[in-house]
Amino acid sequence: MNAQTPPRPVAVITGASSGIGAVYADRFAARGHDLVLVARRGDRLAELGNRLWARYGVAVRPLVADLSTEPGIAAVEALLESDAGVTVLVNNAGLSRLGRFIDLSPADHASLLMVNAVAPSRLARAALPGFVARDSGTIINIASANAVSPYPGTTVYSATKSFVLSLSLGLQNEVEGTGVRVQAVVPASTATEVWDGMGIDLKDLPPE
Ligand SMILES: NC(=O)c1ccc[n+]([C@@H]2O[C@H](COP(=O)([O-])OP(=O)(O)OC[C@H]3O[C@@H](n4cnc5c(N)ncnc54)[C@H](OP(=O)(O)O)[C@@H]3O)[C@@H](O)[C@H]2O)c1
Repeated sequence: MNAQTPPRPVAVITGASSGIGAVYADRFAARGHDLVLVARRGDRLAELGNRLWARYGVAVRPLVADLSTEPGIAAVEALLESDAGVTVLVNNAGLSRLGRFIDLSPADHASLLMVNAVAPSRLARAALPGFVARDSGTIINIASANAVSPYPGTTVYSATKSFVLSLSLGLQNEVEGTGVRVQAVVPASTATEVWDGMGIDLKDLPPE
């Protein structure tokens, strides 16, 4: 990059090591964004980063962080608070544990809440002051159709996704009339690795 070239905008994408997050990474790279890719599996992030750099020529920084932990969330917050080049935050990282409410352990409940609800809220809180000050920026929160249809066995997961939907709607109200955008995405069943280990074969689900 020479002195005349403006810096590329930066998209921070959590849960980019697979599935929907990896697709967001590809799409933002294709639109000319540099990327910060967040997840626990650094090897996957490095592999994807190399591919996107080769294909689109964008800079990709892997940020290995476990969003079920305080240090993991704090590491991403620090990046969002300090890098004024960040124009997009995609709160996509998510975890699913199927089981009746009383059959899941308190530790399972806590990690679902931390990754799916606390992390997106804290990261939005870290990104927003800069976005508001610059009157520009976009937060994309990945909720789920379970936010409004809490099937048996998905109670805590669904509750976290209701939180994400409500958080997004509330933030939309608060940034109305500014240059900041907040979007909630509400996917239904999508073929990704989130289904691995849940004891459900996607082939057994009705096509609709
Ligand atoms: N697939 C569906 O049917 C569906 C439907 C509705 C909503 N969604 C939502 O879509 C989002 C993406 O899910 P997906 O379907 O693409 O599943 P996926 O392929 O399993 O991706 C989940 C991503 O979240 C990351 N993640 C999980 N726990 C994490 C942790 N503790 N710290 C940091 N990152 C963590 C994973 O990375 P690491 O394992 O490398 O950390 C992975 O990159 C989730 O929020 C999910 O709830 C999915």
